[in-house]
Amino acid sequence: MKLSVQRKSQDGGVDRVDSFEVPESEGMTVLDALLWVREFEDPTVGVRFSCRRANACKECLAVVNGQRTYTCIVPATGEVLVEPLSHKPLVRDLATRL
Ligand code: FES
Repeated sequence: MKLSVQRKSQDGGVDRVDSFEVPESEGMTVLDALLWVREFEDPTVGVRFSCRRANACKECLAVVNGQRTYTCIVPATGEVLVEPLSHKPLVRDLATRL
């Protein structure tokens, strides 16, 4: 799958989209794909998560292909663009303050 991630810093110093080819596996979620990228491609991608159980902690909320959702429940297939929530203060990339 192709995973594209909006990269942005709090001070506005970075604003671009980086794309990664992530090997698909059965049951893989967008959060799993993001964590794969952090482990094998770019450890600097800013992601927030905790429970990984959908809707328990709400830390993984982001915009996936234009829809606000939990990245820990959305299947990672095909082409996916992940952006930070626009109404929350940005920490870095996809990580926003709760
Ligand atoms: S990681 Fe907690 S709701 Fe997704």
